[in-house]
Amino acid sequence: MIVELPALESKDFLSILDLGSEALEQALALAAVFKTERLKGRPHAHVLEGQHVALLFEKPSLRTHAAFTMAVRELGGDVIEPSSDVAFGGRESASDVARNLERWVPIVVVRTFAQARLERFAAASARMRIINALTDEEHPCQALADMLALIERWGSVKGRTIAFVGDGNNVAASLAQASVMLGMHVRLATPEGFELNAGLAASVRDVARFGATFTEGHDPVAAVQDVNAVYTDAWASMGQEDDAERRAGIFQPFQVNAALMARAAPEALFLHCLPAHRGHEVTDEVIDSPTSIVFDQSENRLHTQKALLAMMSSR
Ligand code: CP
Ligand code: NVA
Repeated sequence: MIVELPALESKDFLSILDLGSEALEQALALAAVFKTERLKGRPHAHVLEGQHVALLFEKPSLRTHAAFTMAVRELGGDVIEPSSDVAFGGRESASDVARNLERWVPIVVVRTFAQARLERFAAASARMRIINALTDEEHPCQALADMLALIERWGSVKGRTIAFVGDGNNVAASLAQASVMLGMHVRLATPEGFELNAGLAASVRDVARFGATFTEGHDPVAAVQDVNAVYTDAWASMGQEDDAERRAGIFQPFQVNAALMARAAPEALFLHCLPAHRGHEVTDEVIDSPTSIVFDQSENRLHTQKALLAMMSSR
């Protein structure tokens, strides 16, 4: 396969903000090429030939883990998977773990809790490149796949409007950043006390282009009025399981059901990063409806993460 691979300037991909607008567009374009070529059964760019990528997952994962494993292998490399108790369990410091890994691998994919912990890990090595596979605050790999799924449907997201209804969490943060960078308006509706943290909300406004707006509120009906897409995610994220019952009561008015979707524009798309908690944040009739693109989002995790790895391998 002959394709020009753009390089990613930033050492790490800890946030959508690390990409910049041009690199974000390049990553999505490259992912679309990888997707087309894979469907045609054509060989991929073997940019990871003879190399390993480390996967360090401190929380469960189906999509992110499987997609990274396949992406690395389809780019000619292989993965190593030190267990999370070895990597993060206090057996040795995280920075010493990083300084070992940098002797073996060019890239580490990390799913952990605090973003600050990920940043410390990334700072411990000047040469090893770190990818955020989800933290409590951000989920940038998810946003790449989401943008590709929307672009596939619409051609461009510029000038469209997406509503995120539910918890102002990691998925909401990265989605909002990527959306406004590409010129899509974002409306966030959360219960009071579950807003995006102030720093992340400010970051979204800082990176908006093409007149994209970011509005926050507490009324799900107002947020979805005439929008082109509605997104939701779990009411209790990984690490918040003990609070799930309390949250279920608070978040019930934010459930995405047929009545809420009826307020959106005709043919409005439904998105969810998955795993879904059917009957909680979304009903079966919405997630299984013809305008639901949740499995396109899931499929695109492979193509977008492959593009990201290729761009990080070609510096
Ligand atoms: N959407 C997502 O990141 O799924 P996993 O937690 O299964 O990786
Ligand atoms: N907000 C969810 C996303 C899961 C992919 C979580 O952090 O658990």
